[in-house]
Amino acid sequence: MDLFNDLADFSHEQINELLALAQRLYQHPEPRALEGKVLSLLFLSPSLRTLISFQSAMLRMGGGTFVVSPEMSIHGLESRAGIVMDGSAAEHIREAVPVIASYGDAIGIRAFARRRKLEDDLSDREFLELASLFDTPCINMESAINHPCQSLADWKTLDDLGVPSSGGRLVLSWTWHPQPMPLAVPAATLHMAAMRGMDVTVLRPEGYELPDVVMDKARQAAEASGGSLAETDDRAEAMRDSHVVYVNSWASARHYGNKHSEDKIKSGLRDWRVDDTWFENAAGDCRFMHPLPVRRGVTVTDEVLDGPRSVVIAEAQNRMLVQMAVLHRMLSASQR
Ligand code: CP
Repeated sequence: MDLFNDLADFSHEQINELLALAQRLYQHPEPRALEGKVLSLLFLSPSLRTLISFQSAMLRMGGGTFVVSPEMSIHGLESRAGIVMDGSAAEHIREAVPVIASYGDAIGIRAFARRRKLEDDLSDREFLELASLFDTPCINMESAINHPCQSLADWKTLDDLGVPSSGGRLVLSWTWHPQPMPLAVPAATLHMAAMRGMDVTVLRPEGYELPDVVMDKARQAAEASGGSLAETDDRAEAMRDSHVVYVNSWASARHYGNKHSEDKIKSGLRDWRVDDTWFENAAGDCRFMHPLPVRRGVTVTDEVLDGPRSVVIAEAQNRMLVQMAVLHRMLSASQR
């Protein structure tokens, strides 16, 4: 495997093989599998889980990592194309990224959406341009429109919980957030659940419809897997008999890149915060999922987040395990 960028690049069977490898590495650790291997970690956007789960995954298999982020750089990093670099930035990302990649056996890149032009973010322009600058095996650690490591971990969490694929009902719900948030996690989650064969409902207020390209990709995955895709602003209808509510916030496509304009439609939506009442007509053991970090009291009440429905810590733990499988497949001598 030379690129881990999108679960859509893999078959259902290949995903199951990765999840089985993650389970095998958990039950039967291989502390020397990646001995002598180095993973470069380039964080152009912040992280807690992704950073340390990749470091831990490499350490547990005998490899090492180094981390680069703009805050650490003694040179300012410029990323704009066609720029005359007569300001403070002394190094362009077009040289920096291939150099960083050349020091490792694989590279992980995190580059969040710029949230200026919707078309650029939907096409994952920045990540794909960065990944085209080198030949080193590459992992998407969250780009403008994808977060495959989170989605693979969430697939494992659903399996671990025994949530059925066929007939399993997952609600992907928008929640209020003070900032316009990226589309990466909602887009990746929607596709993952549809690919898994679940009946997926997008629950969102008017103005927060997911872009057509995101819905179309998920719809195609659902058609191939025997799942289904629906969309509504009716919370009671969406939550009825649901097995999982996966919560996230995302920017309005109608007001993309214009926080001031989006704030006007968002001002009356603060009640889009998950509390116990959301689960009144859900399945009895309906779970609460969120990729973290989560804003307590804003996105979800303490009662739900600290209660038995919440599986957010398991999701985060699974990040490390599935990334071990991806790294093993990418770098282990036995796999190449
Ligand atoms: N879920 C996730 O990617 O967490 P971080 O942003 O902390 O890496």
